[in-house]
Amino acid sequence: MPNSWRLTYTSRRTCADAAHATAEVAAIQAISSGNNQRAGLFGALVASPCRFAQVLEGPRDLLEATFERICRDTRHDDLLVMSFAPAEERVFSDFRLQVISVDTPPAADPETAGAAMLAQLRASMERVGTADALEPG
Ligand SMILES: Cc1cc2nc3c(=O)[nH]c(=O)nc-3n(C[C@H](O)[C@H](O)[C@H](O)COP(=O)(O)O)c2cc1C
Repeated sequence: MPNSWRLTYTSRRTCADAAHATAEVAAIQAISSGNNQRAGLFGALVASPCRFAQVLEGPRDLLEATFERICRDTRHDDLLVMSFAPAEERVFSDFRLQVISVDTPPAADPETAGAAMLAQLRASMERVGTADALEPG
């Protein structure tokens, strides 16, 4: 799959209100599915009450343009890119943006919290037999 890249990052949610948090994720998914379809991007968003972790894959230029918008979004801050590398194989070809809600990760530094959320994503993918493709190059 030439020119396909995969980005994973984690961030801190700025929304403090639990009741509003679910609607917020639904709004992100609604805007993202159309945008990602147009850009040829696929991915998953893992949402806990206090953090996001996202995996996005697709053409590098469109991935970067989308991530620039995501970085400016005030619904989260403290973004930490965990990996950005060519993707041999597409993992999320059925989902423009699959949303997975998880419980609060244990209090920890962002890298550990993001890794824990991505591990939960990986575990859910193992159940459908696609997790191996998430391993870095
Ligand atoms: C955690 C998170 C994940 C997001 N994921 C995507 C995404 O995959 N694709 C996308 O187009 N927008 C995504 N967004 C929304 C963008 O930040 C932005 O609001 C949207 O693309 C519309 O941008 P515009 O108002 O400049 O047109 C995400 C936002 C957040 C907070």
